Amino acid sequence: MSAVLRPASPALQGPLVSPAFLANPYPAYRALREAGPVHWSEEFFGGAWLVTRHADVELVLKDPRFSAQRTGAWVKNHESAPGELKGFQQLFARALLFLDAPDHPRIRQVLNAGFRPDLLQGLAPHIERVACELLDRVDRGRHLDTFDFIEAVARPLPVRVMALLLGIERPQEDFMAWSEHLASFIGEAQPTRAKARNAQASLVAMSRYFESLLAHKRRAPGDDLISRLAAAQARGEIEEGPELLAQCAMLLFAGHETTRHLLGSSVQALLSHPAQWERLVREPALLPGAVRELLRFESPVQYTGRRVATDLVLHGQQLRRGDLVLALIGAASRDPVRYLDPDVLDITRRQGSSLAFGSGPHVCIGAALTLIEARAVLGQLLDRWPGLSLANAAPRWGDKPAYRGLTTLPLRRRPAPVAQDAHWTS
Ligand code: HEM
Repeated sequence: MSAVLRPASPALQGPLVSPAFLANPYPAYRALREAGPVHWSEEFFGGAWLVTRHADVELVLKDPRFSAQRTGAWVKNHESAPGELKGFQQLFARALLFLDAPDHPRIRQVLNAGFRPDLLQGLAPHIERVACELLDRVDRGRHLDTFDFIEAVARPLPVRVMALLLGIERPQEDFMAWSEHLASFIGEAQPTRAKARNAQASLVAMSRYFESLLAHKRRAPGDDLISRLAAAQARGEIEEGPELLAQCAMLLFAGHETTRHLLGSSVQALLSHPAQWERLVREPALLPGAVRELLRFESPVQYTGRRVATDLVLHGQQLRRGDLVLALIGAASRDPVRYLDPDVLDITRRQGSSLAFGSGPHVCIGAALTLIEARAVLGQLLDRWPGLSLANAAPRWGDKPAYRGLTTLPLRRRPAPVAQDAHWTS
């Protein structure tokens, strides 16, 4: 980032990220959007521009004047001694998410081959089966009227699906902890050194795991993404070593927390709006549109970053080469210029897709897979337990501003004795 001092935005008197913000960030987003399109905040990674409106978030994600290469200062700022996080940076910086052209399109093409629609359709029945198995397990606990949906379904399902996609026979216990350490580093506004060190240890452990899995897949290839990556490397399309290992680790990480949050927030939002839940029970054909709306209503990724690649002016504000820009997807998803009554959940909304999966060259590669997962879980829930209800009125949101999701979600399988509040908006 350039050395020029920038005054914190007057709209940001005091910290943005607080327990109240984490519980409900939408009033703060609204205030920011209304105060102006671009704000300087010292609160994120030592200083960043916050971009709040839908059109600007989309611009930042699509325009090559905003570079995806942003890990350098992020990592360096957390070193207590020079080079302490070198191993981390070597892998982290090579992940698709942080690359620009020409490396980005080259590697994206290699990964795209593993997300072809026919392959994903082939996975769909397996995903249905995993969802069914997890819900059966809840059903077997008949003595329990309530269960934690996050623990029982939203957390384990993405791990099992990533294992199917990557061709991992037995997902390891460590996968979740590794992913959570990375999420704790990437997802916080000011991660501590301890979190940076944990993230490094987890990323290195992931890369070791994938080194041996790749060796196994070279000997005995299957019809899975890791085998495809090994074959692409043999054809010279992707480099052996950090470049290849970084993609494997990123894939393992990218599909966990995000999908868990989508599942948890979706169930929470629908059950807080019983009329919408009941409509879906009666008309399950509305489910694809409902998932689109749920992604907008509670976007699991609330922001992502870019570095300014060349000095530019945005809405009269001078942005310097190297400055960090945070594209606030969560704020864009509630922008009234883009969405009519944005704080209302409407599963029949017909206003196109949101920016929940990003936009432009880095748009989420796992979006179609996620939709299959969400439809499988929600479809089976609606079918199996139409009388499902919230067992605890106060939702418990996680503490990372970048990833919005619930830590627990107690549900009651039998109809609640008293109807829930019919209207819940932020
Ligand atoms: C609810 C679930 C998900 C959400 C909300 C989500 C969101 C996003 C967003 C916003 C981006 C763009 C980030 C940016 O432009 O900086 C992205 C990129 C990415 N996502 Fe997802 N994601 C989800 C699930 C998944 C899954 C299941 C996978 C893997 C199977 C995945 C893999 C990736 C990868 C590899 C990228 C980087 C793409 C690139 O840089 O070209 N995501 N995701």
